[in-house]
Amino acid sequence: MTTQTKLPVVPITELEQSAFCQTEEELESKSLVEEFAVGVRWQRIPKKYLGLSPEIIGKRIQKAKKMLGQKVVVLGHHYQRDEVIQFADYTGDSFKLSKYAASQNNAEYIIFCGVHFMAETADILTNDDQNVILPNMTAGCSMADMAITDDVLDCWDDLGSVLKNKIVTPITYMNSTADIKSLCGENDGVVCTSSNAEQTFEWALKKQGKILFLPDQHLGRNTASRMGVSDDEMIVWDPFKSLGGNSEEDINKSKIILWKGHCSVHTRFTLEQIKKARHKHNDVKVIVHPECTPDVVDNADLYGSTEFIINQVSNSKPGTTWAIGTEINLVNRLAKENQDKNIFCLDSIVCPCATMYRIHPAYLLWVLEGLVEQNPTNVVQVAPDKKKNARKALDLMLSLS
Ligand code: 13P
Ligand code: SF4
Repeated sequence: MTTQTKLPVVPITELEQSAFCQTEEELESKSLVEEFAVGVRWQRIPKKYLGLSPEIIGKRIQKAKKMLGQKVVVLGHHYQRDEVIQFADYTGDSFKLSKYAASQNNAEYIIFCGVHFMAETADILTNDDQNVILPNMTAGCSMADMAITDDVLDCWDDLGSVLKNKIVTPITYMNSTADIKSLCGENDGVVCTSSNAEQTFEWALKKQGKILFLPDQHLGRNTASRMGVSDDEMIVWDPFKSLGGNSEEDINKSKIILWKGHCSVHTRFTLEQIKKARHKHNDVKVIVHPECTPDVVDNADLYGSTEFIINQVSNSKPGTTWAIGTEINLVNRLAKENQDKNIFCLDSIVCPCATMYRIHPAYLLWVLEGLVEQNPTNVVQVAPDKKKNARKALDLMLSLS
């Protein structure tokens, strides 16, 4: 059992979160040199790409994609910039994209415009002769960085010592490293996304034991609350405190153990913003992502994954007013595509997900031109031993959904 209290570390990816926050609605891409001027440190890229304008980059991406044909598939998560998403052969939330990656038997290269854990997941789900490429290797996720393998292993050992033979099912949100997914597979656990968290909780609760949910405390609490689990049956595990900051009695009594992680994008939304939106527009519908804090989710009209948000907003009646609590690139795109509705972001300060934003179109161009020259860059490869167990946990997720 670990007794030491460790010093908290703020992930670099979280520190950079405010770098591109602004008050204007538009987030137009600039050349890389201009974007680097705010002081961010992204992956090194050959100098020749630094000064290219988004227009030139766009033309060259089109050309490279044409030359590569069916050999390459480009996937784009909904939080990507418009200048990137326009080149995606397929867009989706993390669940839809993982299913799509698993079905792409013909493509030799899958370029994943998203973040590192998504590219790892695609590598786990695709065949051994396929390669997954992440255009910018520093496109991580601050939430995934909050669940470091050693800390999670310490927690797992501590739970084993305190709970002896009681069943604990580890469930990890897709937004975690392949190591954590593998730990779940190895210990009869499962992966979930924001579209299927309830199904996985239902499955785990039937085993009559406890759930260790990683790494997003808010998605975990929001999901468990909807399933009738009360707050006093949930504890939070802080990896920087001995026994996660809990007593042995609390751990024994708990039903759900929530890892103390969060999304720096979705925790910006507040109850105050909801009140303000309702005050200004009495007919407003508030829709938020379940990574938001429980007070925000409880006071919204609807909540769900990015795909759910898109479906609800797109299928609503003309004239509907929507206040949306999710990443700004998606909110802006929905507003553009649904001009017959009044759509705005709950937060008046525009903050893109800083790590999704690291997929600047110049990086997409760099990896595509590398493939044209038969020089693949940024191939993401999960170690075979981790792949096996992570795949087990992912396959279970796909079968439960
Ligand atoms: P979904 O794609 O599952 O909605 O999750 C959003 C997210 O935060 C991706 O990182
Ligand atoms: Fe990670 Fe949040 Fe960005 Fe998703 S939106 S990639 S959870 S930081």
